[in-house]
Amino acid sequence: MSATAQIRVPTPQDILARKGGDPIVSLTAYTHPIAEMVDEACDFVLVGDSVGMVIHGLPSTLGVTMDMMVMHGQAVARALKHSMLVIDMPFGSYEEGPEQAFRNAARLMRETGCAAVKLEGGVEMAETIRFLTSRSIPVMAHVGLTPQAINTLGGYAVQGRGEDGDRVMADAKAVSDAGAFAVVLEKVPANLADGITAAIPIPTIGIGASAGCDGQILVVDDMLGLFTKFKPKFVKRYGTLFDDGKAAVEQYAKEVRARSFPAPEHIFADQAPEKKK
Ligand code: KIV
Repeated sequence: MSATAQIRVPTPQDILARKGGDPIVSLTAYTHPIAEMVDEACDFVLVGDSVGMVIHGLPSTLGVTMDMMVMHGQAVARALKHSMLVIDMPFGSYEEGPEQAFRNAARLMRETGCAAVKLEGGVEMAETIRFLTSRSIPVMAHVGLTPQAINTLGGYAVQGRGEDGDRVMADAKAVSDAGAFAVVLEKVPANLADGITAAIPIPTIGIGASAGCDGQILVVDDMLGLFTKFKPKFVKRYGTLFDDGKAAVEQYAKEVRARSFPAPEHIFADQAPEKKK
């Protein structure tokens, strides 16, 4: 037996079993070093299609492609040792119907080794979720604000206020009944998020929802203060990485211009130093 304890990466079934238990911790990641940074703290890591906005500078998630998700998924997969990998299905890769969704979900699993895929939509996606989950593809659902639908939703507004809450509740119940092992609730009123969490048997993962959800997720670049173009109300910044990086770059530029970098400890002599015996 090895002296090193075996690390057991959670499975979708483990996440499902956390319903009503200790809060599930999750962040997005898109690159290898950030995945290494978040791995130990998280139960699952999502390669979200937010990659398009925070890494590629796109104006929305609509321009994200399968190839982008595969490439970022592979970079993150190589880093994760503790947390489960979930990858977003990008806009246009699953909406045509269950067969198209299966083909693309299978590609994500085959080429990245992810444990599950996430897709947006409620009642209208139930048939697709049922098709995937009955064919060995674990699905995390995503209801409430679904950013791939901004053109039909009319923007990024809170979803499910007042009587509209019934629609979001019906979406959450539909994806749960269809076999999703967890559901992301994005930008919905806290009382609705609590009601959904009480009403369905699968974990709810909140983002702009409620501390009463079964878990939470944030876009990592938002919470690290690395993406600073705008800050949704639901984001708490736990770091100032953009400002810290900018200050470091300015200091480097100053030292290069002053010829104080590289210093003696960064340069090589003509003679190799003698090796210590
Ligand atoms: O794409 C993404 O990052 C997401 C999270 C916001 C849940 O879907």
